[in-house]
Amino acid sequence: MSVTVRVPAKVNVQLAVGGARPDGFHDLANVFLAVGLYDEVTATPADELRITCTGPGADQVPLDRTNLAARAALALAARHGLDAAVHLHIAKDIPVAGGMAGGSADAAGALVACDALWGLNTPQGELLDICAELGSDVPFSLVGGAALGTGRGEQLRPLDVGGTFHWVFAVADGGLSTPAVYREFDRLTEGTEVPEPLASQELLDALAKGDATALATALSNDLQPAAISLFPSLADTLAAGRAAGALAGLVSGSGPTTAFLVRDAESAAEVAESLLASGTCRAARTATSPAQGATVVRGR
Ligand code: C5P
Repeated sequence: MSVTVRVPAKVNVQLAVGGARPDGFHDLANVFLAVGLYDEVTATPADELRITCTGPGADQVPLDRTNLAARAALALAARHGLDAAVHLHIAKDIPVAGGMAGGSADAAGALVACDALWGLNTPQGELLDICAELGSDVPFSLVGGAALGTGRGEQLRPLDVGGTFHWVFAVADGGLSTPAVYREFDRLTEGTEVPEPLASQELLDALAKGDATALATALSNDLQPAAISLFPSLADTLAAGRAAGALAGLVSGSGPTTAFLVRDAESAAEVAESLLASGTCRAARTATSPAQGATVVRGR
């Protein structure tokens, strides 16, 4: 008996970042959009908590209790007075340390898989509370679709999406640490007045209408200068994607994956091919959004 849960990656179509808070986090206006690149988490009863991982970049995923999926299983078990005696297998397809919330996806997947395996039927609100304790992006991985995240990103308001958006994701050679990118943001903005982060109405309207051209002009990521400062070749990847005919390109979250919004599936295939040929990325993946949040695909 085992349960498999599929969980999507995300791209931030807007990431407005405020100044550092006393707790070190930053207030955000974070417009999340789930994209159809997925990790799968399978939970199987075992003698003790064990993590395995396969797929691209699996060798960089920790297999001990620092893994967010392990922490999710432990948090759920503790809440219900259970022993987290479970084998979690993560089949990775979301780029590791790529700014696409792969670790958060695995945490949300583990939570939903263990909840089903253990027959707990934990209410969604309680699952979201556990997600928020695990990390700022984990609640969104659970719900998927599109949402505005405020606070440190964990307070979610669902958003309407009026159509399908087509993307190309350029996977960089290497990863970026999210805390390091936020530290670089602090360094670059030191001595300046960082405005309060606010969601762009123009961007929310473009999402609601399913208008890719309007969304392309409204895309923004305040972490992009910091990510490029730490990973300068991202500027070349962005230029290559734009030259290949993308409507717009930006760094995904804290990077180093770059995201290119394109007109349709045909353009996505062309831009992916050009990006790969440009030699400015390790892989190019096409995907559409929105995508469903954590969903049981096999098992109970
Ligand atoms: O919440 P999460 O564990 O994903 O955050 C990772 C790191 O990213 C935090 O330790 C912090 O350095 C930074 N962060 C931040 N402000 C946010 C979200 C994350 O400074 N709103």
